[in-house]
This record gives sequence, C-alpha cells and structure tokens, in this order.
Amino acid sequence: MTAAVASTAAAPLGDAAAGKARLDEARCPECHGDDGNADNGDGVGNIGKFPKLAGQRADYIVKQFRNFRSGERQNETMTAMAASIGDDQLLDIAVYFSSLPHMGGDGAKAAAGRRLFAEGSAERGIPPCAGCHGPAGKSIQDGSAPVIGGQHKRYLKKQLVEWRVGERANSPGGVMNGVARRLTDEEIEALADYVSGL
Ligand code: HEC
Ligand code: HEC
Repeated sequence: MTAAVASTAAAPLGDAAAGKARLDEARCPECHGDDGNADNGDGVGNIGKFPKLAGQRADYIVKQFRNFRSGERQNETMTAMAASIGDDQLLDIAVYFSSLPHMGGDGAKAAAGRRLFAEGSAERGIPPCAGCHGPAGKSIQDGSAPVIGGQHKRYLKKQLVEWRVGERANSPGGVMNGVARRLTDEEIEALADYVSGL
C-alpha cells in the first residue's frame, strides 16, 4: 500500500515502504538516524548538528535536497549526499521519513521564546512563527513551512543565524531572511531553545 504524505493534501510523492527499503543502500541513516531523529551519538561532537527528518513534510525534504543539489543551499556534506541518489530514490525516502512519528522535544525547555513564537512583535515587524510553522511547530496543512517543533536546538540556531546573515537564502521570497534579520542573538537563543522543546 502506498502511504499518503501526511502533511500535504496533494497526491503522495513516493512510497514509504519502498523508501525504507532504499535506505539499506543510501547513507542517510548514518547521520539522520534509522528513525529520522538524528540522535545517534558518534563521539566526536556531532550531536545536534544533523537535523531530524522524522515527520518532516515530504515536499520540504525534496525541496531542500534539490536545493543542495543545485547549490541554492550550501552545505559541503549535503552537496555530496545530494549527488549520491537519484530523484526516484529521493521521493520514496522523503515519504518514508515523513511517515515516521513527528520529531519531538522533551518539553522541558525555558519558555522565554514562547511569546515571540506565538505572537511575534508588531512594533519590530516580526511575524508570529506559529502563523506559518503551526502553534506547536508541526507545520500547517496548506502552508509550505516545515516542521521545526522538536528539532535539535543546535541545528535550529545555526539556520536562524545563517538566514540572518544571508548565508542561507533559499526560502520562498526570502521570507526567512526577512524574519531572521530582525532577531537579536538573545532572541535566536530563546527561540531555538523553546522550539526544540516542542
Ligand atoms: C555524513 C552526514 C550526512 C549524511 C550521510 C546525510 N546527511 Fe542530510 N544533512 C547533513 C547535515 C550536516 C545537514 C545540515 C546542513 C546544514 O546545517 O544546513 C543535513 C541536512 C539535510 C536536509 C535538510 C533538512 C532541513 O530540515 O532543512 C535534508 C532534507 C537531508 N539532509 C536529507 C538527507 C538524505 C535524504 C540523505 C541520504 C541520501 C542524507 N541527508 C544524508 C548530514 C548528512
Ligand atoms: C510567513 C511564513 C513564515 C514565518 C512567519 C516564519 N517562517 Fe520559518 N520558514 C518558513 C518557510 C516557508 C520555511 C522553509 C524555507 C525553505 O524552503 O528553505 C521556513 C524555514 C524555517 C526554519 C528552517 C527549518 C529547517 O529544517 O531547516 C527555521 C528554523 C524557521 N523557519 C524558524 C522560524 C522562526 C523561529 C520564526 C519566527 C521568528 C519563523 N520561522 C517564522 C516560513 C515562515
């Protein structure tokens, strides 16, 4: 049976069972984990560096992968990985990771980022993150924003910093550069802390 892409109403992009089988030959689990939670310790300080893919939107996984391939998103490791599998494999693998239970945090993080996440700041021109990423950061059905709730803090922080300086510039219409440009170091720290606990 073909598993539906849980996070979008569109027809499934690929087949989850086929994707699971393809992982025997692809290297993804080495860094992103067998269960997509990227918590496999390697003893050399990589914890939190690799993003979780469990329950991520399949369309988002596919887009990022293609962005690494085209150079629109820069990362040495993922540029090499993106050349290692073809599009047919990618679609099945993306649907497989997407079919896994949503990534989740321990919920015990400091709440300093909660207000900014839920309400934004009208006077500073910061839109509420929840408006696009969903109230618990698990994305919303008809948007294009990825699941971020429960993602590794270290990874979240790196993305927000890279967006602020423009090192990552692949969001539609530059939306995330516009958001991150207005955030202070303290706010990025608080948001990454709060969001990783969701
Ligand atoms: C050797 C380690 C390694 C392997 C193997 C690897 N990745 Fe990655 N992947 C990374 C790192 C590191 C990042 C984060 C890059 C950054 O910081 O921007 C990443 C990011 C990603 C992202 C972006 C996630 C997001 O939330 O934006 C996707 C999608 C992805 N990888 C898919 C894959 C797939 C599919 C495979 C297998 C074909 C794979 N990766 C294999 C290290 C790896
Ligand atoms: C108007 C919609 C919108 C708002 C508001 C928004 N985002 Fe995003 N965000 C997006 C989209 C779309 C992407 C995916 C970009 C891409 O395709 O690379 C994204 C990506 C991200 C990512 C990268 C996730 C990953 O796996 O690499 C992080 C982290 C993030 N947003 C955090 C935030 C935070 C924190 C806020 C609030 C301060 C916020 N966003 C507000 C639309 C939004």
